[in-house]
Amino acid sequence: MNLHIHSSKDALAEAFAAYIAQQVQKKESYSIALSGGSTPKVLFQKLASDYKTLDWSKVKLFWGDERMVPPDHDESNFKMTKDFLLDHIDIPAENVFRVMGENEEEEEVKRYEEVLKANLPQQNGLPQFDLVILGMGEDGHTASIFPHQMELLTVDQICALATHPESGQKRVTLTGVMINNGAEVAFLVTGVGKAEKVAAIVNKEGIATFYPAAHIHPKEGQLNWWLDDSAALNIKH
Ligand code: 6PG
Repeated sequence: MNLHIHSSKDALAEAFAAYIAQQVQKKESYSIALSGGSTPKVLFQKLASDYKTLDWSKVKLFWGDERMVPPDHDESNFKMTKDFLLDHIDIPAENVFRVMGENEEEEEVKRYEEVLKANLPQQNGLPQFDLVILGMGEDGHTASIFPHQMELLTVDQICALATHPESGQKRVTLTGVMINNGAEVAFLVTGVGKAEKVAAIVNKEGIATFYPAAHIHPKEGQLNWWLDDSAALNIKH
């Protein structure tokens, strides 16, 4: 587990964007599963403003999870990514593999699984991302694996249908097995509201076992935590 701690959200986004661009430049093609929510917005803005000349035709974009809403819905992770990144870079439409939130839920789980199988190389019998970017909720959830559905960490599936614990909103999520098959997993977490659970996970405290994010350990790949000072506040150095 490597920690990358930066003084502010902006400095963190700058460093992580530079890292991603460096990784893309090293490879012929580079597949990324994007996280949703609000944290990635500053990263996407940095990529959109400072990396327009990156060869985006080498990049394939997927999502680690998506709310089952239409792509133009304000809660759509695809819409957020389109607004903050896709509309500002020259990436071929065929390189963008969104979860179709407008589809019937169970059918979309199956369809998206086939998309992953058809567009990613296999490793350990599963499709493998070059990079999985994850956020973490204040309850310790990651992707759309919430504490009340810990079975989604280990279920023998590539994707699953999840339910938000408060709103009941349905979501398609990568499973923990699929996330942990990533060549690299990067948590991008900011803000003091996350500090307690980040510390519990990084400091390997017993309570962390109840947090889905604590169960993300890439089988063979690297695990990186990209944090601002606020989120890293309680980590024991
Ligand atoms: C989603 C995300 C989810 C998110 C965390 C953190 O669809 O909401 O993928 O896992 O990363 O909830 O969200 P914030 O970045 O908004 O705190």
